[in-house]
Amino acid sequence: MAEVIITESEDEAGRIYADCAANLIRTKPDCVLGLATGSSPLAAYQALAARVKDDGIDVSRVRGFALDEYAGLDPRHPQSYRSTIERTVIEPLGLDPAKVHVPNGNLETIADAGHEYDAAIEAAGGVDLQILGIGTDGHIGFNEPGSSLASGTRIKTLTERTRIDNARFFDGAIDQVPTHCITQGIGTILKARQLVLLAFGAGKAEAVAETVEGGISSFCPASALQLHPHATVIIDEAAASRLRNRDYYKWAYANKPSWQSI
Ligand code: GLP
Repeated sequence: MAEVIITESEDEAGRIYADCAANLIRTKPDCVLGLATGSSPLAAYQALAARVKDDGIDVSRVRGFALDEYAGLDPRHPQSYRSTIERTVIEPLGLDPAKVHVPNGNLETIADAGHEYDAAIEAAGGVDLQILGIGTDGHIGFNEPGSSLASGTRIKTLTERTRIDNARFFDGAIDQVPTHCITQGIGTILKARQLVLLAFGAGKAEAVAETVEGGISSFCPASALQLHPHATVIIDEAAASRLRNRDYYKWAYANKPSWQSI
């Protein structure tokens, strides 16, 4: 089962991720970070950027792979995931942009881009630490309900729910949100050595409960985390509100031995 940590704020959750990522970078300076877009990881990136600056951590050899990208959206578009990762991760952390990869959503080459992306991750030695958000329908990356739990990186069709959720990044206009994407598959994500899923707010409570305490089902793609040997779910009280074992998770974390890390 995933470890569940219930925090008081996104900032506290961000600091827990930052501790973990900073440790990784110190012990493995050319580590591979798995990166996600969306609002959920923002506090975590800010906390890591502050840690890198304050502690003078050398990130020059850190590599990164993002989860997904819209199909057919110019990578220079401000809401492309390439631009988003540049703005929220590469620049604040001071990573080398050449070492950070985002799936290529160019329609002319997209048919082969998935296999090539998985091959590039494998050639890099695999992802060490994958950060994840979760959609209100339980998607991770852009693996919508019904996604194969063994899938590799490939093209997917976005659900209307996801396009409505993401319209806020496109001036509220759902018709501006692309209909297709390229995303790491669930099988790709499960190969990462450690997964950290972040979720905040009541809107995520149902998806979180399904993920952690529901059955493993492609209908809630994030439930595949139950198959991973080292997954951590860091959420706030609102996102935890529908968990049946909430008190146990809190007790376990409050009484965690000092020799156990996340
Ligand atoms: C998008 C991204 C996901 C992200 C999700 C939730 O669909 N492809 O990777 O987890 O949005 O976003 P937010 O964290 O803003 O709620």
